[in-house]
Amino acid sequence: MCGIIGITSKNNIKFDLIKCLKNLEYRGYDSVGIYLNKLIKTKGRVSDLEKLIDDSINSSCGLGHSRWATHGIVNNVNAHPFISYNQKFVLVHNGIITNYLEIKENLLIKGYKFYSDTDSEVVCNLLDCYYLKYHDAFKSLKLTLNNLEGSYALGIINLDEPNKIYFAKKDSPLVIGKSSNFNFIVSDINSSYFLTNEFIILNDKEYGYLDSDNIHIYLKDKEILKNSITLNLDNKEITKDGFEHFMLKEIHEEPKVLKNILDKYTLNNKICLDPLFIKELINADEINILGCGTSYHAALIGKEIIEKITMKKVNVYLASEFSNVNLINYNSPFIFLSQSGETIDLKIAYNNIKNKDKIYTFTNVLTSSLAQLANKAFDLCSGIEIAVASTKAYISEVTLLIMIAYKMINKDEIFINEIYNCINSINKTLNTKESIYELATKIKDSTSLFFLGRGMDHLINLENSLKLKEVSYIHSEAFYGGELKHGSIALISKGINVIGLITNEKYLTLLSNIKEVESRHANVNLISTSNLNINSQYVIECNNELFTPIIVSPFFQLLSYYCAKLNNRDIDKPRNLAKSCTVE
Ligand code: G6P
Repeated sequence: MCGIIGITSKNNIKFDLIKCLKNLEYRGYDSVGIYLNKLIKTKGRVSDLEKLIDDSINSSCGLGHSRWATHGIVNNVNAHPFISYNQKFVLVHNGIITNYLEIKENLLIKGYKFYSDTDSEVVCNLLDCYYLKYHDAFKSLKLTLNNLEGSYALGIINLDEPNKIYFAKKDSPLVIGKSSNFNFIVSDINSSYFLTNEFIILNDKEYGYLDSDNIHIYLKDKEILKNSITLNLDNKEITKDGFEHFMLKEIHEEPKVLKNILDKYTLNNKICLDPLFIKELINADEINILGCGTSYHAALIGKEIIEKITMKKVNVYLASEFSNVNLINYNSPFIFLSQSGETIDLKIAYNNIKNKDKIYTFTNVLTSSLAQLANKAFDLCSGIEIAVASTKAYISEVTLLIMIAYKMINKDEIFINEIYNCINSINKTLNTKESIYELATKIKDSTSLFFLGRGMDHLINLENSLKLKEVSYIHSEAFYGGELKHGSIALISKGINVIGLITNEKYLTLLSNIKEVESRHANVNLISTSNLNINSQYVIECNNELFTPIIVSPFFQLLSYYCAKLNNRDIDKPRNLAKSCTVE
């Protein structure tokens, strides 16, 4: 949530700053702003900001911010950066300062005026207040940080030292990028790899300052030396590569993602996963998996399959509700599933687990906070995912969980062969997009749509329903077929669209539930893995029931995509969402 960038260079940085801001936009996109010798900010997107930038605006040091509103409505005033009341500091912030009202009251007494409703402006004015007293920006930063409660990634320019950027990080992502002529701070590596491939990963409570030549990092009043890491990233990943949207491109990458997983984790028909990790899972009484959103849905599928083939109990927790759960087996291993590796709910859950030795992260970003915190991190191998709605990373998450299940029972070869089958099946789906488009035209005008399924099909539908909501804004819900009659059938009326999913003979009883809604004049379309000889049916072949989530999900992802396209939605950046949720 919110993307921040601050570059200090020997040359003008306008174009790099704006390019980076465009790449950061997926983190939050309700308003945007820059400081480059002048402050320019606006409600809307980077493309709106660009219209306000003329040739007079340029500098060798500046800040940029893309916002996902928390405190204060979406408008120009609440957009970042902020300039302090006495014009001493410019600041961008990602995170939430929980005690900002208290600080604000004290500053009001001292005569400070506030123009926005944000917690961030309060931080900017607190810096200003200390600076007027001590005339020392670094000291002012340290004193300010001592007063802050909550989370922050801060980028700050003291207007008396216009080539220096001060920074601080706690519970919100921030890294430093290094190059020969410039240095910078940024919320995530992917958005700025076009600038450099050398980065320093900051840990919580680290702060400091940088200019174009030097970087100084401090922890608890002491300067610390940190090594940089050099990454080898694929340039092609951040373009749409000829596709109209990142979401469509990313769905098309799913066969490649499965191939990446086989390349990374298998050798000579064996799954090569850390043997200690697998042993720990085998010896554990239970396994815990935590996730949010799409990752939570992947965890539910993982539970189903791990339990089925290993007979090991798996508990799945929504990370955002973890603190409200009563009975948790803290002695058993925890798997944190997170595409971004930055989701705040998972970080909070991490802090609440005392024994950190058994925490493992499955993530797409090995430099992320949750990857750093974990005992060991496993790569989802999806490649950078840009579209806010997760598609290929979901496929990776499900696949990795199935892979550990097969490894636990030493059936490596079955897993490997089935993944090759999945690759073929997904390719088939990608080649029959016309029928999915046709189904989208039938359902695109729904005001409400219901997915019906039984057993694991219901779990697959939870994600199908979320995807449809996220990108097409069609209200939808997933119901267990057998539960309909216990209440939800009251929602069925003439013309309501229902999608049934049957991927297993065991779930054929869903056909009676379909009859029930048809009798109430609902329009039913059925997706199944074998031909059931009924009207409005779409068949996706699949021979191994345990792999159906991987095989059928791309169909539904494309369906959501086409509904969104037909409804003219902002597919890669749906309203109100953000790719990486770093605030509670
Ligand atoms: C946000 C995204 C979702 C994602 C969820 C969890 O809400 O919009 O697409 O599923 O966060 O993200 P994570 O990075 O932890 O998997």
